Amino acid sequence: MSSVKRIAVFTSGGDAPGMNAAVRAVVRTAVYHDLHVYGIYRGYDGMVNGDIKRLDVGDVANIIQRGGTVLKTARSDVFRTPEGRRQAYESLQAHDIDGVVAIGGNGTYTGADIFMKEFNVPFIGLPGTIDNDIFGTDYTIGFDTAINTAIEAVDKIRDTADSHNRLFFVEVMGRHAGFIALHTGIGSGAGAIFLPETETTIDELNNTLRKSVKRQKLFNLVIVAEGNTNGDAHQLANEIKSRNPHFDIKVTIIGHLQRGGSPTAMDRVLASRMGHSAVKALLRGEGGVALGIINDKITYTPFLDAISKNKTLNKDLVKMAEILAL
Ligand code: F6P
Repeated sequence: MSSVKRIAVFTSGGDAPGMNAAVRAVVRTAVYHDLHVYGIYRGYDGMVNGDIKRLDVGDVANIIQRGGTVLKTARSDVFRTPEGRRQAYESLQAHDIDGVVAIGGNGTYTGADIFMKEFNVPFIGLPGTIDNDIFGTDYTIGFDTAINTAIEAVDKIRDTADSHNRLFFVEVMGRHAGFIALHTGIGSGAGAIFLPETETTIDELNNTLRKSVKRQKLFNLVIVAEGNTNGDAHQLANEIKSRNPHFDIKVTIIGHLQRGGSPTAMDRVLASRMGHSAVKALLRGEGGVALGIINDKITYTPFLDAISKNKTLNKDLVKMAEILAL
């Protein structure tokens, strides 16, 4: 067993629905095990500036259902500097903090890995990002809520698309990964999906569209991942319009709508399990690992692997999406 007595928790990078449920689970599990627990506000910036407050069970009441993060978040520049990290270490020392739970994405893990090597404070990472692009876990906190939000929006777009016989290009988030786009596309029955990981071309889309018109097939929805290499939804729409001037085409960017809102049951339970397990991992003396859930079992992946290895899209799902769009 470790000698961990005082731990801290923070959220960092883009907020994700379910982060609050994770913070609540960390605080309550820590208190249950007689640990002191501190909240660090505004991610690594707060660690550098000493924006740290002791939390008790009551401080995390009534937050499990709230989107965003009560601890606030930031993408920190100062923590990238050795001076910033030294200052952050001094802030942790001022509260005798001897273990940290970091909730965020790849950038958060990279910062934790560097800091741990410099100052030997154990960190456990929790995957908090809507993108679901973290190696070592089937799902990240926030992904399920984001795809449900996106699908609800797309369902509404379909109503108007269908009524006017229009073709909509709907752009969803996912800077480097197509998980949100793939699941939104499958769940909303899209005619085509543009993903960063696959090679769908405008020519292919154009051919599919023309064939659909010939067959009088209803084809009114293309889902575009933000990070796809063919261009954004506007560029794709313009290209198709220039080849088919008679098509009535519209573009919708769902954008940050996908990041907010009350977390789904799935995200609340996932985040609670992860937050709870993170504290138990610190108590066992673990550190330097990203916690995940694979096949419903809690797993631990070294930060370096979580950061450097690519989580790949399920090719069978990509193929299935094409077949179901026939
Ligand atoms: O990583 C989560 C994410 O929501 C991405 O999907 C998106 O590209 C990015 O954050 C947007 O970041 P910001 O809110 O800083 O513009």
